[in-house]
Amino acid sequence: MSELIDDFDRRIKYVRISVTDRCDFRCVYCMGEEMTFLPRDQVLSIEEISLVARAFTELGVEKIRLTGGEPLVRRNIDELVKNIGALEGLRDFTMTTNGAQLRRYASSLRQSGMQRLNISLDSLNPERFRELTRTGNLEKVIDGIRAAKEAGFERIKLNAVILKGRNDDEILDLVDFARDEGVDISFIEEMPLGNVSEHSRQETFCSSDDVRAMIETRYPLLHSPENSGGPSRYYRMADSSSRIGFISPHSHNFCDTCNRVRVTCEGRLLLCLGNEHSTDLREVIRRFPGEIEPLKQRIRESMSLKPHRHHFTTDGDVQIVRFMNMTGG
Ligand code: GTP
Ligand code: 5AD
Ligand code: SF4
Repeated sequence: MSELIDDFDRRIKYVRISVTDRCDFRCVYCMGEEMTFLPRDQVLSIEEISLVARAFTELGVEKIRLTGGEPLVRRNIDELVKNIGALEGLRDFTMTTNGAQLRRYASSLRQSGMQRLNISLDSLNPERFRELTRTGNLEKVIDGIRAAKEAGFERIKLNAVILKGRNDDEILDLVDFARDEGVDISFIEEMPLGNVSEHSRQETFCSSDDVRAMIETRYPLLHSPENSGGPSRYYRMADSSSRIGFISPHSHNFCDTCNRVRVTCEGRLLLCLGNEHSTDLREVIRRFPGEIEPLKQRIRESMSLKPHRHHFTTDGDVQIVRFMNMTGG
């Protein structure tokens, strides 16, 4: 039974925990070229994150997703995954990763009880992949996807942020790649988080409706029963097990059914990705080391802070100064 219900009667069953702001990539829509990262003592320790995860599951949360930055660059991530994988009451344990380190980590993540993985993939062209991620190596990521498949994850989903003029000509290739690999794929509208200087978000905005129309020139999309709250709207194709999702914060607002909150790597509980409403969990954790009750109390009280919806626009203004790597999306 969830104890976490907000003022709009939304039940919070899902927590996204960012375990680090660091990343080995510098994706153009996520970070500026020159990022500075947080000093280590400001970031929650593995024990502190484990306590946060336990507090949420004791409050009825059933799903935890680890994010970053890039979660797999966090030291001792294996230990954290083991701790969380062993929590009672957790039904769905997953991670969003850029995939570059999966050859090394996939099987231990799976063995620790992680069920699903989301892997970012915005291009299948090595040079363009390098341009979009600034530092990434496509071959390593594709090898990481294969390692995840070999490790036997229940579902693997690719995430592609589509930017007009940069990778919108690859939509069908990405769908075909997902079909060939037997994985799902979601197409994401870029969100105005952090000031990214290299491109104009207004000019590169590509709506999910445009992406969908492009896909339907080759594959008619059928409604999928899996549309259970959450931001993704899923479709199926007649001749494939791969699902196609659309995450459209601009064109199809999904806030009414929001079931989630986020914890940043500094231990700030963010009630909404598109707002600054938050509370400081780290302060409670460090005032009462190892104690779970004060932490649970602070989380319960924070529910009244959850705003009704985000107000993202596509007019090019940065609405949230925090970069995406602070929250992992
Ligand atoms: P599920 O956990 O299965 O719902 O996966 P997901 O697709 O939501 O998670 P993932 O970490 O792969 O995120 C994909 C994209 O969805 C990222 O760009 C996130 O920023 C975005 N996203 C996830 N949740 C929210 C949300 O509550 N609000 C908004 N605006 N975007 C979200
Ligand atoms: N808008 C939309 N999606 C973003 N991501 C990172 N920054 C943004 C942004 N500004 C995506 C990444 C990854 C997921 C965690 O969030 O591509 O798939
Ligand atoms: Fe790293 Fe993900 Fe941000 Fe790319 S989108 S820079 S992989 S955190």
